[in-house]
Amino acid sequence: MLNSTDAAGRKPLRVLVMVSGGGTNLQAIIDSVGDGRITNTQLVGVISNNKNAYALERAKEHGIPSMCVSPKDYETREIFNTKLLEAVDGFAPDLVVLAGFLVVIPPEMIRRYEDRMINIHPSLIPSFCGKGYYGLKVHEAALKRGVKVVGATVHFVDEGTDTGPIILQKAVEVQQGDTPEVLQRRVMEQAEWMILPRAIDLIANGKVRVAGGRTEILP
Ligand code: GRF
Repeated sequence: MLNSTDAAGRKPLRVLVMVSGGGTNLQAIIDSVGDGRITNTQLVGVISNNKNAYALERAKEHGIPSMCVSPKDYETREIFNTKLLEAVDGFAPDLVVLAGFLVVIPPEMIRRYEDRMINIHPSLIPSFCGKGYYGLKVHEAALKRGVKVVGATVHFVDEGTDTGPIILQKAVEVQQGDTPEVLQRRVMEQAEWMILPRAIDLIANGKVRVAGGRTEILP
């Protein structure tokens, strides 16, 4: 899927999206490429670790090559890691986007895709992140602590859990009576589906510089 509005005549960024579930973030990326919020980008593939992920249907509907690589299909984690990296390399991506991908990324893949792999996390890092904070657990913890503002973060992936250089963040207000599910949905609608496509567009257009564990967004 190629957005042809590359006025500058640059080579489009080859983007591979990795998913595990519903794929609403994938959908936001597909829609943004379609309507020009993301430019200079080609969605070259989708990889899921879960063959039943609805995200795979979304990929098919839009003609994006997709495949499942599941740890369940391999005897050891090492073999899975090798197969996963082979699959990723097979798409020759310039950028790997983890959009709700729930599998631990093999260290070799982190090294190979340093500054070329991003993740969306449903909190304002460094709050409610790190080991054990994923999915609804993030929102449960935020409500338990009683914070009034939550949000989402897009960051580069490094060896730590949610520790890589931050690219974009967006805040979302907690409302009286929120449940984890309601809050999760609001964070997706008001933050994740906006900043993940925006981050891809910035990277595709050479606007993100990484140095010393931080990013600079160029004008
Ligand atoms: C999102 O909340 C994302 O932040 C988290 O997993 C969820 C994925 O949702 N890491 P979807 O598959 O994009 O709908």
